Amino acid sequence: PVSLKPDRSNGRLIVVSNRVPVPTASGAPAAGGLAVALQSALRSKGGIWFGWSGKASQEADREPQLRTLGSISFAVCDLTRRDIEEYYHGFANQALWPICHYRLDLARLSERDAAGYFRVNEFFARRLAKMLRPDDVIWIHDYHFIPMAAFLRQLGVQNRIGYFHHIPWPSPDTASAMPHYDRILRSFSSYDVVGFQTEPDADNFRDCLIESGAGRAVDGNWCEAYGRKFQVDAFPISIDAEAFALEARLAERNTLVKRMRASLEGRAMIIGVDRLDYSKGIKHRIEAFGAFLERYPEAAKARVTMLQITPKSRSEVPEYANIQNEVAEEVGHLNGKLGDIDWTPLRYINKTMSQSALAGLYRMARVGLVTPLRDGMNLVAKEYVAAQSPDDPGVLVLSQFAGAARELKSALIVNPYDIGATAAAIARAIEMPLEERQDRWRDMMATLRDNSIDHWTANCLQAISGESEADLEGSLH
Ligand code: F6P
Repeated sequence: PVSLKPDRSNGRLIVVSNRVPVPTASGAPAAGGLAVALQSALRSKGGIWFGWSGKASQEADREPQLRTLGSISFAVCDLTRRDIEEYYHGFANQALWPICHYRLDLARLSERDAAGYFRVNEFFARRLAKMLRPDDVIWIHDYHFIPMAAFLRQLGVQNRIGYFHHIPWPSPDTASAMPHYDRILRSFSSYDVVGFQTEPDADNFRDCLIESGAGRAVDGNWCEAYGRKFQVDAFPISIDAEAFALEARLAERNTLVKRMRASLEGRAMIIGVDRLDYSKGIKHRIEAFGAFLERYPEAAKARVTMLQITPKSRSEVPEYANIQNEVAEEVGHLNGKLGDIDWTPLRYINKTMSQSALAGLYRMARVGLVTPLRDGMNLVAKEYVAAQSPDDPGVLVLSQFAGAARELKSALIVNPYDIGATAAAIARAIEMPLEERQDRWRDMMATLRDNSIDHWTANCLQAISGESEADLEGSLH
């Protein structure tokens, strides 16, 4: 039997993402499960991680800056201030982000931003094309770079190219609010594989192709559109649960974790950890915590403290500046109304914490509140579960609108818009008997062990490199 497609698995891996975890001068590796997993794939195949440097500079000096460590090269380009404004703050974060999170009310539709988005994608594609070899496999990440493959194809690149969408993909009536919707949809047909977090996201995307008249679904997970056939599939992202569990165990000795434990004075801790983003439902969560304190005084008063860790994010975007103010106001309101001279019910922190400190804090928390209004996956939910002690695990309260809810079915699943129901779930979590907590935790931990981040990387890469396709074709001959 002869495979029609050459085996590309020996080629280098090229990862493209807006943020690139360039190691520091001391060579310290990036923390974070995804960065670690991608670097491990890059290390074994050899390759390049390419994207934005995070910095602005003038037009003239925008060629990629290279830093090579072993078999991995990190290649990053500066953008101009105008590029950053139009491509990153503008189209990516004020059009695609709110629309993909079902917030049409927050979307800014600007022709200037759209032009900047496509221009910056072409800019990156031109620089990447010059670095490519024919057998490289290219893996592009997230909504910043949807049109990247189309520009690469225009430049004659014939390599296998895959795309993974880390955030939700909405149903056609919502997605069609995207400026240049037809061009965006068409861009996807330049990929060989398009991956989403969940089946509903992948279904929504297929529906977009069908309803717009651009394409059709063929053979299960394949689509035909704009004259090309490509795979559209769900690849739910995950974590390395064992490694995270170990980190959480070791973090019991972390100074910050010890300080937190001492300051609780025996109270149970409820934890929330999110970037400061309107999609995370932080305001609703604080309201629900307040309702819990008021409606369940026996379970609540003087026996719990909530810690909400919320690093600031995208502060240049007006909606993010607004949500910062609104959350701060809500926190002040709650503590003023319900606190006491010796008890601050809600501790609110805008700092970024190390992964080790977070792992230790998750382990200490009796309840993990992960209640986004919409989220592609939400790895905090998975990390919270992995961090728990098997002897005395905490309870995850999880939004039905997080991708993770499709896998972590033994969490207490809530509708985050329903303040009363979320308050009741917090009360139930606080009072839950040990045996039920252990049953629920064991079930979720087994799910995490079955689908590790390495498993996710391998599955995605197998699809992108065309290995499964080659196997299939081989078996048909
Ligand atoms: O979840 C989507 C995402 O873009 C991630 O890829 C990224 O780490 C995070 O949001 C933070 O966003 P930004 O890079 O805009 O700070």
